Amino acid sequence: MNLGVVAVSAILSEWLAILFETPVGPRSALRHYPYKGFGGGPQRFGGFWTASVLNSHIKLGSLDGMELQAAFDLLLSSVTPLKAVDGLIWQSLGSGATVPGHPWSHGSLTTLSNSRCDAMSPRSRMVVLRRSDCVARTIDCYTDVRSEKIADLESAGHSVCWLFYDPLSKIQLRLQGTATVVNNAEADAAWCETSLYSRSAYLSVEPPGKKVAGDAPPDTADRVVNQVDSERGRENFRVIRTQVKEVDWLYLRQGGHVRALLRYLDDGDVDVSWIVP
Ligand SMILES: Cc1cc2nc3c(=O)[nH]c(=O)nc-3n(C[C@H](O)[C@H](O)[C@H](O)COP(=O)(O)O)c2cc1C
Repeated sequence: MNLGVVAVSAILSEWLAILFETPVGPRSALRHYPYKGFGGGPQRFGGFWTASVLNSHIKLGSLDGMELQAAFDLLLSSVTPLKAVDGLIWQSLGSGATVPGHPWSHGSLTTLSNSRCDAMSPRSRMVVLRRSDCVARTIDCYTDVRSEKIADLESAGHSVCWLFYDPLSKIQLRLQGTATVVNNAEADAAWCETSLYSRSAYLSVEPPGKKVAGDAPPDTADRVVNQVDSERGRENFRVIRTQVKEVDWLYLRQGGHVRALLRYLDDGDVDVSWIVP
């Protein structure tokens, strides 16, 4: 087939998709939207997109960083954006836990701490988002049981805050919830899937955070082991599972910032509202 025929059929199929609100390819709707700015963006179609069309498009692929802004722009152009915002946020968290380089693949996890000073104080650190469950509304990271964040959870309380930010799409996601330390068959399964490289994080002989004497930084040779010896890291490995209670979503959008607050109620319902950005 020559290039002219390919181009004409591509244009025709896109226009047919627009006319009949049917997706023509996995991410056809998202291809209309440039990553930066709004030129040729969703307003082109005004309120043409319905929530069902939106869902049929955004469910087709896992969102990577480039698609995050386009997906939220598309959502905001739909007739009932509030209905879809919860699903899209959790879809993006699912991608964060599975797509390398996704903006949500790393987040800041804040615990309350009382170990460094007398007063209770917040302490944040970067962690890798390892798993997201959109039904249970939980997100997981892994850590060493000897780390201070575990001590924080056990002695200062289970309240935690996760923070994600993507400078390209200018979307911030803040999740508040309660965290528990998981060390059961699920943790066994998670451990089995970790790479040899990741296991080195759980193999230090001395506990992470311990002060060392001398000028030289501590030797990390104890962490370079083969697959069989890496099994000794399992005793230090833990899953931290956060039950998300509230999401604050902020999009610094050209032409008007947008912010939504989502509260997960005990009966399983979600209370979603726009809030002043
Ligand atoms: C990009 C990045 C990713 C990290 N991921 C994790 C992680 O998934 N789990 C973890 O325990 N520490 C991770 N760390 C190290 C933590 O930020 C922190 O330094 C360490 O866990 C000790 O924190 P704590 O003393 O507050 O417990 C990561 C650090 C960076 C820079």
